[in-house]
Amino acid sequence: MKKLKWGMIGGGEGSQIGPAHRLGAGLDGAFDFAAAALDHRPEEGRAYGQRLGLAADRAYGDWTEMLEGERNRADRVDLVTVATPNATHFEITKRFLEAGFHVLCEKPMTMTVEEGEEIVKIAKTKGKICAVNYGYSGYSLVRHMKAMVARGDLGKIRLVKAEFAHGHHADAADADNPRVRWRYDPAQAGVSAQFADCGIHALHMASFVIGQEVERLSADTVSCIESRVLEDDAMVNMRFDGGTVGRLWTSSVAIGRQHGLTLQVFGETGGLRWSQEQPNQLYWMPLGERLQVIERGEDNLSPEADRTSRVTIGHAEGMPLAFANIYSDLAEAIRAEKAGRPIDPAADLYPRAEDGLRSMAAVFAVAESGATDGAWVDARPPMFR
Ligand code: NAI
Repeated sequence: MKKLKWGMIGGGEGSQIGPAHRLGAGLDGAFDFAAAALDHRPEEGRAYGQRLGLAADRAYGDWTEMLEGERNRADRVDLVTVATPNATHFEITKRFLEAGFHVLCEKPMTMTVEEGEEIVKIAKTKGKICAVNYGYSGYSLVRHMKAMVARGDLGKIRLVKAEFAHGHHADAADADNPRVRWRYDPAQAGVSAQFADCGIHALHMASFVIGQEVERLSADTVSCIESRVLEDDAMVNMRFDGGTVGRLWTSSVAIGRQHGLTLQVFGETGGLRWSQEQPNQLYWMPLGERLQVIERGEDNLSPEADRTSRVTIGHAEGMPLAFANIYSDLAEAIRAEKAGRPIDPAADLYPRAEDGLRSMAAVFAVAESGATDGAWVDARPPMFR
């Protein structure tokens, strides 16, 4: 099968998330890395692109140059990943969608709800894919949890509990650290810090697994480090549109916790627990039976889990492979579009622009509720009310 062409903006040398995208996109042989504008410093971006194997004329100095360079090529990129800092996502994603490219944008997709609605509309009008990198939803056992919920193994879902609490910004001395300080500064980060950075991953995972969207929420937001304007900890109570109760805790001052993304789902006939730090085990407690450990790669899991598992049972499979599953979903979607055939349903699970928009509405709802002593507020984007 002919390879698809892939391009990247941001993710330069030393960036946090760039390598995971390159590993993910390259892993299954579906995409060739063909073009990039990797760095905010044009010369560094060009040089690094060439060191990664790009042709000199496709290792661009900045994203506007890349847009002009790619737009009229017969072999232009099929998919563009946007992995730059948050405030640039909207403009870059919008311009590439308008030029007819498929886009995978890092989270948060935009800085405002209005921008999110605009992206959803442009993607629809143009008939292009706009995916958002909730990459943790690519884990095989997360897909399996979703399949178990959908086929009724847990009965009606009563409660979902999501956490994304780490301790990496717990040092009060970080008030003067330029790599940390901007995150809690409204002028640079927007209306929320920790919820917008990590809470939305936990919220997306909860919605993805239970197949419901959050309708309203009440948030307690605090800055445990007093010099911070924006929150470094939030506890959010939620109600989903299918009647499920949601509890979400996110923090950046939880010393001793490393990554901290965990999901628990409790239904009428069973409970599930999964953690990002042990992604190859899923704890399953059917009502009245013994606790069971489901291993990634076991026989007779769901088609969604089988499709997203690569190495045999007992061998560790981790985060870049979860990202690779988002890329393999996108390769299937792009190939189906080119061939005019339906998408394999087990692959049609990549997070959409609509998910990016819902997250942004939730971010603003958390900020509003946090500022009004936990008042319950509508968490839906106006477009979906
Ligand atoms: P970073 O600061 O480590 O790297 C950003 C990279 O983008 C740098 O190489 C920089 O030179 C480049 N860049 C900045 N402006 C640019 C421009 N205008 N054109 C081209 N390149 C530009 O940031 P990090 O942590 O890698 O985060 C990037 C994005 O990824 C953020 O939106 C963040 O929220 C998201 N992220 C997502 C994760 C996930 O699990 N989905 C995990 C970590 C980050």
